[in-house]
Amino acid sequence: MKKFILIMLVILAGCNVSDPVQPEPVKGTYRFVEKTEGNLSLVDDAMRVLVYEQFIRDYKLSKDPHYFYRSVTILINKEFALPKDFVPKDLVKADMPLSPRSNYPYMRKDAHDALKAMFEVALDEGFELWFHSGYRSYASQKLLYENYVVRYGQVQADIFSAKPGHSEHQSGLAIDITAPSSEGPFSVFFGDSAEGKWVAKHAHEFGFIVRYPKDKTEITGYMYEPWHLRYVGVELATQLYTSGKVMEELDN
Ligand code: DAL
Ligand code: ZN
Repeated sequence: MKKFILIMLVILAGCNVSDPVQPEPVKGTYRFVEKTEGNLSLVDDAMRVLVYEQFIRDYKLSKDPHYFYRSVTILINKEFALPKDFVPKDLVKADMPLSPRSNYPYMRKDAHDALKAMFEVALDEGFELWFHSGYRSYASQKLLYENYVVRYGQVQADIFSAKPGHSEHQSGLAIDITAPSSEGPFSVFFGDSAEGKWVAKHAHEFGFIVRYPKDKTEITGYMYEPWHLRYVGVELATQLYTSGKVMEELDN
């Protein structure tokens, strides 16, 4: 009898793993998700299917309803949003030089460590950088966005602020930075400063992209934000830097 139960358990466990795949890809995420394991160079369709199926298995095993949204390469923009209740699991507090009025001091650990390393290298080369703000919850973004709408009207607000759910800051992978030489955070002049230029040139070496470039406002839908960095990992950051593309322009 014991043997029978054991065999049944093995069969049931096996069934679970080999269930017909029921993909529930979140639009705009899975095309990047399959690239997170260093498979950017995968061009073979059969291999892509295998990688994707493995991803679905990992997703099921994780029992994490937000598994899709934890990819560092997730696309978040005016079209693709994070769920209201999405909170990153590995937020850490900024342990690096902060701007005087810095707020929202948390970010995901990988982004944190990469940013800290970037700040240290920049400083060695004579460029002092400050962290200004990082992770914002859905509720914080809602408050922020609604205040901007009251103050500037929705058309203006939509140019520089994301609606709740649509901000990369909710992913814990976006960080606003500044420099002592800038007049304050959120200055387009940061892009013209020596520090801003250094960041634009080297951020990808640490896994960051300047997410809203000057010449891509039509595509991103946001004004030029030289201070807003998005962590995507070194591989994708380098691909975007060398191709001059924004995330919206990437093929599947
Ligand atoms: N400023 C960027 C677009 C945000 O609100 O996430
Ligand atoms: Zn930002």
